[in-house]
Amino acid sequence: MKVLIVGAGGREHALAWKCSQSPRVREVLVAPGNAGTESEPGVRNVDIDATDIAPLVEFARREAVALTIIGPEAPLVAGIVDAFQAAGLRCFGPSRLAARLEGSKAFGKDFLQRHRIPSAAYRVFTRASYDAAWLRAQRLPIVVKASGLASGKGVIIAQSLDEAEAAAADMFNGRFGEAGAEIVIEQFLPGEEASFIVMADGEHVLALATSQDHKRLCDGDAGPNTGGMGAYSPAPLVSGAIHARVMREIIQPTIRGLSEDGTPYTGFLYAGLMIGSDGTANVVEFNCRLGDPETQPILARLNSDLTTLCEAALDRQLDRVEARWDRRAALGVVLAAAGYPQAVRSGDRIDGLDSAARLPGKLFHAGTRRLSGHVLTSGGRVLCAVGLGDRVSDAQRAAYALADCIHYDGMLYRRDIGYHAIARERAGTDAGDATRPAGHG
Ligand code: AMP
Ligand code: GLY
Repeated sequence: MKVLIVGAGGREHALAWKCSQSPRVREVLVAPGNAGTESEPGVRNVDIDATDIAPLVEFARREAVALTIIGPEAPLVAGIVDAFQAAGLRCFGPSRLAARLEGSKAFGKDFLQRHRIPSAAYRVFTRASYDAAWLRAQRLPIVVKASGLASGKGVIIAQSLDEAEAAAADMFNGRFGEAGAEIVIEQFLPGEEASFIVMADGEHVLALATSQDHKRLCDGDAGPNTGGMGAYSPAPLVSGAIHARVMREIIQPTIRGLSEDGTPYTGFLYAGLMIGSDGTANVVEFNCRLGDPETQPILARLNSDLTTLCEAALDRQLDRVEARWDRRAALGVVLAAAGYPQAVRSGDRIDGLDSAARLPGKLFHAGTRRLSGHVLTSGGRVLCAVGLGDRVSDAQRAAYALADCIHYDGMLYRRDIGYHAIARERAGTDAGDATRPAGHG
């Protein structure tokens, strides 16, 4: 069969790499892909942008693509799955209506409240309904969010009321374009974050391995928020008890609620969680897709055939399949470009790819392109070096050995990816879930 992956980032390179290993797959097509997918055996880039829905449908039909997997949120929120379905094509992802869970934070928060799923208390405002007196009565810190899609950048954790008011005003004044026409203001949740990603078929759920992302730019979780600077799987923070609780209190009610609301959810569903010191889990955000960079370490550990799992989901038979995982930990370090996450410089030549290819682990490409024999930087997050090891600390060593092969001007990366888990390993409090079979729901 032919599989089409839509997207151009590290997540999509990992999806293409994983699907290309399936004995059922003759060719993987990636639209538009990057220099990494281009040089992957059995994979071909196609020059169509991820949001050009009609040309993608036309292409999939012409090539008789049997399965399409959508990477990024923008085409999902725009209704790419509905368009593929209308053309009789199998496409794994949520419908436009189900993808509102990510596309509108206001919608997501209202959904959570309506279905009594734990999340921070909040209010939604437009410029017209904005209530400065309410805001001034809130406890600090307080979180101000643009409701629409803003690539993870439309969230301000305000330490003062002045800062919160300025953030709201900025959003209404168009700092995030249309995404800020509506805003969510919510309580700050203390705790540690984890990424909880599942596959859903409208009814059943198959949990993927747990993971943890590092959203801040600098070591020690300092600096601005980014799309993610590194991730590892499994996340020892998510003990067996917390896993069961998240399935029961968050994931199952979400899938059930969407079904009851008449918008059943098929696709990857990513719950960004805040785990409190008492083991409570709150939803910080929903994403209607896989995480980037979480996907890279998660798929590095997946031993099952991803195309089989996606097809089972499209047949509403996720309850009949299991996901098998490598017992080792995987850890991915993102190598970013000069200026990330603000104004990013592109076009720097990347050296060391050949020596990295001789090491264990896998170097996934994100913002890269090939030009006359060289691979150049072409985006904020450039590469993701993934290592595997018995412990997170071993996986970290392998990942940094890969990263150390690479050089380009302005290369920027964190030195401490995995530090939470490694501290737990050192303290011997590792409640690890590496060997727990993935749960069904
Ligand atoms: P979001 O785009 O909603 O995931 O927010 C981006 C990041 O901001 C999250 O990954 C958290 O690190 C942080 N954040 C968002 N909402 C909250 C909250 N209510 N309490 C604490 N941190 C938050
Ligand atoms: N790594 C966070 C995200 O994909 O949204």
